[in-house]
Amino acid sequence: MDHVELLARTKVEDPGSESEIVLEGQYKDAYEAMLDAHNAGLYAGLIGPVGAGKTALCRKFARDLNRPFEWVTFSDLVRPANLVGSFDPTLVFKFGYAPEAFVPGPFTLAALRGGVFLANELNRGDEYVLNTMLDALEERRLYVPALRSWYRVSPDFYLIAAMNPTENRGTRRLSSAIRDRIKVWIRLEYPNRATELKIVAQHCGEYALAPAQLERVLELVSETRTDPAVDAPASIRSSIGIARFAAERARRTGVPVDGKLLAQAARLILTEAVKLKPGRKLDVWLDSLLTKTLGTAG
Ligand SMILES: Nc1ncnc2c1ncn2[C@@H]1O[C@H](COP(=O)(O)OP(=O)(O)O)[C@@H](O)[C@H]1O
Ligand SMILES: [Mg+2]
Repeated sequence: MDHVELLARTKVEDPGSESEIVLEGQYKDAYEAMLDAHNAGLYAGLIGPVGAGKTALCRKFARDLNRPFEWVTFSDLVRPANLVGSFDPTLVFKFGYAPEAFVPGPFTLAALRGGVFLANELNRGDEYVLNTMLDALEERRLYVPALRSWYRVSPDFYLIAAMNPTENRGTRRLSSAIRDRIKVWIRLEYPNRATELKIVAQHCGEYALAPAQLERVLELVSETRTDPAVDAPASIRSSIGIARFAAERARRTGVPVDGKLLAQAARLILTEAVKLKPGRKLDVWLDSLLTKTLGTAG
């Protein structure tokens, strides 16, 4: 199979259509708040720690609205053209600097088509870049510099934002202009034990992991969220990772999942997932965490 055929075969029409999420507890509350914000014509933002489920919930919400869905994950490297669009040089060769040679960016597509735009990791974006969205949010018109023209934003256009709390590394304070336009801010934390258990179980579908073993994973992970030595704790992604790794190792070796296996998995996964406060030694901390929660360091 050459790569052209490979691309044709693997092309995804709707990248938002992944499996259903667990919509209970804080996720249900947040979903309903987003729905009310949307129906009231107010833009909404989710704010919470890494791996709390912000992106998953936004995608689920956008999918349920059943409108075209576009998103950008912001960082220092995202430029206005990545939002608004730019000229394709080969098309310019053919059409000149005309609309035919212009490739709209995700924000332009969502704005003009009446879609939903997810501004993911909003506060990692550069202020100058974020400001390119302002007119579309408030005045319902969008300036496309490359075409030197204004365009009408569809009344159905909707924006949702997701971001980490501002104190997190790599984030900036949002400008008051942006903060003022996103009216409804909804907080997501790590879910409670029962909800996280369902989430992890959903992501371990093909393995028959006993709920008691999942409980032990969550016990261990939740410890990282309250330990004062920890700067950045383990997220839901770590819980899923530990459970899956242990389950797979048990499947391959035929040894049932036990504390030792969970400790091995946790060590491999938490090494990069957790950041400790300066001066703390990871190995020492891991040994004591694993011994405390699993009764063995692996
Ligand atoms: N309510 C949920 N139901 C199912 N899976 C979830 C849920 N919340 C989070 N997850 C899973 O947890 C992981 C982290 O979620 P994600 O949305 O990427 O976090 P964030 O955007 O807050 O960093 C992903 O694998 C996601 O699928
Ligand atoms: Mg995310």
